[in-house]
Amino acid sequence: MAEEQLDWSNLKFGYHKTDYNVRCYYRDGKWGELEVSSSEYIPMHMAATCLHYGQECFEGLKAYRGKDGKIRVFRVEENAKRMQSTCRGTLMAELPVEKFKEAVLKVVKLNERFIPPYESGATLYIRPLLIGTGAQVGVHPANEYLFIVFVTPVGPYFKGGFASTPYVVIRKYDRAAPLGTGCFKVGGNYAASLRANKEAHDLGYSCEFYLDSKEKKYIDEAGAANFFGIKNNTYVTPKSTSILPSITNMSLIQLAEDMGLKVERRPIPIEELETFEEAGACGTAAVIAPIEKIDDIETGKSYVLCKDGKPGPICTKLYHHLRGIQYGDEPDLHNWVTIIE
Ligand code: PLP
Ligand code: COI
Repeated sequence: MAEEQLDWSNLKFGYHKTDYNVRCYYRDGKWGELEVSSSEYIPMHMAATCLHYGQECFEGLKAYRGKDGKIRVFRVEENAKRMQSTCRGTLMAELPVEKFKEAVLKVVKLNERFIPPYESGATLYIRPLLIGTGAQVGVHPANEYLFIVFVTPVGPYFKGGFASTPYVVIRKYDRAAPLGTGCFKVGGNYAASLRANKEAHDLGYSCEFYLDSKEKKYIDEAGAANFFGIKNNTYVTPKSTSILPSITNMSLIQLAEDMGLKVERRPIPIEELETFEEAGACGTAAVIAPIEKIDDIETGKSYVLCKDGKPGPICTKLYHHLRGIQYGDEPDLHNWVTIIE
């Protein structure tokens, strides 16, 4: 479909074909050169480790078209580092940060015509993927890997964009074990989350809410996003070994400090939800999704986290501040943005 036909303001968060993707192969113990492809498919050995033993990881980041027409990519080095950490956690070949960055900037530039305009509220979602392509039948790491980055223009992850929505605690399924892969961005964590996510949706909630798997006492994450709560001029976010270290959360922590808030990273008992004045879920896809309430159906408790159903003042300020930096409307004081000329 030509870009003129895209209805930017009504885009969903989904896949849309673009012109190119960028690939890089790991063979004989080293990464090769970046290659440009226009195929949406990956020919693969049927015994590839990504298919059998979950040697697979991905990342998610975005490119933004500013009012000034410039293209900005947010904190690409952090995604590169997190992918390296995931590779260490799953014995996959680590891609150098510079190569990751080069591939991301290249794929964005090549697909420039798919970057939504500033006013639309849509963005270009960038999806780096790294998979074990070498064949193994015994449970061993592969000796060959493929790194690939594609992009797709997307609208908001949650319906309504920046609006408060309800969440539900799911105790029946665990997303990740305390010493498992929760802190890595591997597909297996998302497979483990599908039933909880479907149950939450079937019950009319926008997202599932996870407690720690061991004791079911502390807050872990909100679907594919980290949790933060606000009270007494303090930004509080969980410390847990089974949640993904969110780059959005890391950025909000800095912005909260810049705004004069105190920051606490610590275990948060579920009952403490009663004391928060505001709360949100944060992530690349979610941005900041303010939380209206969290229902814990099994205990019969409902924690209301906003007044009049509207996003609270600190969530709103953080949201505008973050978006302002991402779109180039506010100064990039922490050097988070890479501008693509
Ligand atoms: N937690 C999970 C499970 C996620 O999938 C994501 C999305 O990437 C996040 C948190 C948020 O991370 P980030 O802000 O780096 O996108
Ligand atoms: C992201 O925020 O980048 C995510 O990974 C969320 C989801 C689409 C997996």
